[in-house]
Amino acid sequence: MSLENSQLPSPLGRGVGGKGYKMSSDAMKKRAAEAALQYVEENTVIGVGTGSTVNYFIDALVRLKYPIEGAVSSSSMTTERLKACRIPVLDLNGAGPLPLYVDGADEVDRHLRMIKGGGGALTREKIAAAASEKFICIADQSKLVDVLGAFPLPVEVIPMARSYVGRELLKRGGQPVLRENFITDNGNLILDVYNLHILEPAQLEAEWNNIPGIVTVGLFAQRPADVLLLGTADGVQTIRL
Ligand code: A5P
Repeated sequence: MSLENSQLPSPLGRGVGGKGYKMSSDAMKKRAAEAALQYVEENTVIGVGTGSTVNYFIDALVRLKYPIEGAVSSSSMTTERLKACRIPVLDLNGAGPLPLYVDGADEVDRHLRMIKGGGGALTREKIAAAASEKFICIADQSKLVDVLGAFPLPVEVIPMARSYVGRELLKRGGQPVLRENFITDNGNLILDVYNLHILEPAQLEAEWNNIPGIVTVGLFAQRPADVLLLGTADGVQTIRL
């Protein structure tokens, strides 16, 4: 793992802004998103994740000085925004391996393992990430954690398996809560699982993926990000595996 800081620490220290930071988390998300532009190559297809940080990335793509072939989208929400920005949306099946996937995270640790799915797009995000050569995670500094699990772990479930999967997760120490009034782009439900302190994320991901009825566990540990661009009040920190 290597650490870089694109700017020197600010002499201003902490000040106004949420959670005691001198800058809002939105401004930090925007910084991280704009830093991801340096990885975008001319005439390539980019995988695009979902969420407020990714929205800043899409907005920044519009200002690129060179053309891209298009984007593979991870959700209907992202598809709408890409189209509104006149960026061609391509089918993953026709696009082949993607050179780059850019997405946010709900939590990320220093090994670049993540919890994702706060926006409910975890399944398509996991597919796009798996099909990509490089995964850049963009996030504000509040997302960096020592141990994953304070953010409830989203699990996408086939509707008929909701109760069965819920009981299985309870047996494993989690507290599953059905996400109210929410259907995924794939027509499924989300259980948000509380009460976790995930010390072996890749192991938990593999084990839960094997429970019948679970479509996707929102742990991205078997395929972590390759680079984390962390927006902070002092600049963008780059963490590589
Ligand atoms: C979407 O399903 C999630 O995986 C997002 O990547 C995650 O929730 C981050 O969202 P924000 O960028 O809005 O914090």
